Amino acid sequence: MQPVLKSKQPKVGTTIFTVMSKMAHDYGAINLSQGYPNFDCDEKLKELVCYYTKKGYNQYPPMAGVMAFRESLAEKVSRHYQVDYHPETEVTITSGATESIYAAITAVVCSGDEVIIFEPAYDCYAPTVELNGGKPVFITLEPPTYQIDWGKVKNAINPKTKLIIINTPHNPTGTVLSPSDLESLAQIVKDKAIFLLSDEVYEHIIFDGKPHQSLMLHPTLKERTFVTGSFGKTFHVTGWKIGYCLAPKQLTEEFRKVHQWLTFTTITPVQYALAEYLKAPENYIHIPEFYQKKRNIFNEALKASRFEFTPSSGSFFQNVNYAKITDEFDQDLSKRWTKEIGVASIPVSVFYHQQNDFKVLRFCFAKDEETLKIAAEKLCKI
Ligand SMILES: Cc1ncc(COP(=O)(O)O)c(C=O)c1O
Repeated sequence: MQPVLKSKQPKVGTTIFTVMSKMAHDYGAINLSQGYPNFDCDEKLKELVCYYTKKGYNQYPPMAGVMAFRESLAEKVSRHYQVDYHPETEVTITSGATESIYAAITAVVCSGDEVIIFEPAYDCYAPTVELNGGKPVFITLEPPTYQIDWGKVKNAINPKTKLIIINTPHNPTGTVLSPSDLESLAQIVKDKAIFLLSDEVYEHIIFDGKPHQSLMLHPTLKERTFVTGSFGKTFHVTGWKIGYCLAPKQLTEEFRKVHQWLTFTTITPVQYALAEYLKAPENYIHIPEFYQKKRNIFNEALKASRFEFTPSSGSFFQNVNYAKITDEFDQDLSKRWTKEIGVASIPVSVFYHQQNDFKVLRFCFAKDEETLKIAAEKLCKI
């Protein structure tokens, strides 16, 4: 008898990112759908990876990451945020932020636990909660501001609430949390056994002089938070899949128990290369202006269009509202425009579990200037 595998994720099919990238390829459209740069990383960084590869740094590194790298990351965090994490016990290198998210959720969530997720949400949060027997409790954020209503969060909390997942700067909306958001969250969780997972992969992609509000900055939040980041996003190397988790010792201990069974550790020469690269602040302090320029070029060109939009405050995504043009379902529209207009986008309804259609499309502006201008020109013709 051939066994029949009962899916643990029956609702999960091919993701929209795969669908839209394939469509962009098949129809020769400009691909502003999936979130990755169409330009290369710094030559210096590539040379460092080559150097450490050739020098023979090619065997398993320690489970939690190369010590020199954890030290270099802890120093960078301390320089940038004036917050200390101990490299030995509170810093873990992972295979992308995705692994950190999986490990943190798995370390915390037990069967029946509830996890608050703000929608629209990055796609891996809810499935990971469910794979661990947890129950996602969704709180809807609505355009144009996508502000968190902390009153709703308070009402959603009950004794089963174990974790709240935060993402700032936010994918897909490009919004960022403010110091008062951090304070509201702290007031809500301070007397409760609730943990936090803060997805901060776009920490350096933040605009208009706004400082990034990492959850580590608030002591009440820091003591219960897994902060995750991604070197893929920060250094334009999304294919390297290398990230990290910062968390207090007791949380890190449980996090590493999961991490060791997931991947055990992460590519060695890249860790040595990044350890060295991170030491120079000039390698990351200019990232906000680098991406702000791209956002501005795209938005400036889009001013001649019929879209309505608020400039993105962070991440490399710009959302636009198309309600004045058509009332088509966003998922149908983004496919149609990929074919007919030649620009691929992501329909924002895919980030809501009930596919709420607010007539919003997401465009990724992590592209060279020429590509952004040509894409905007096509969009302005609609
Ligand atoms: C909000 C968010 N979190 C996590 C990730 C995954 O990061 P990584 O590629 O380092 O796994 C992404 C990638 O798109 C993202 O947008």
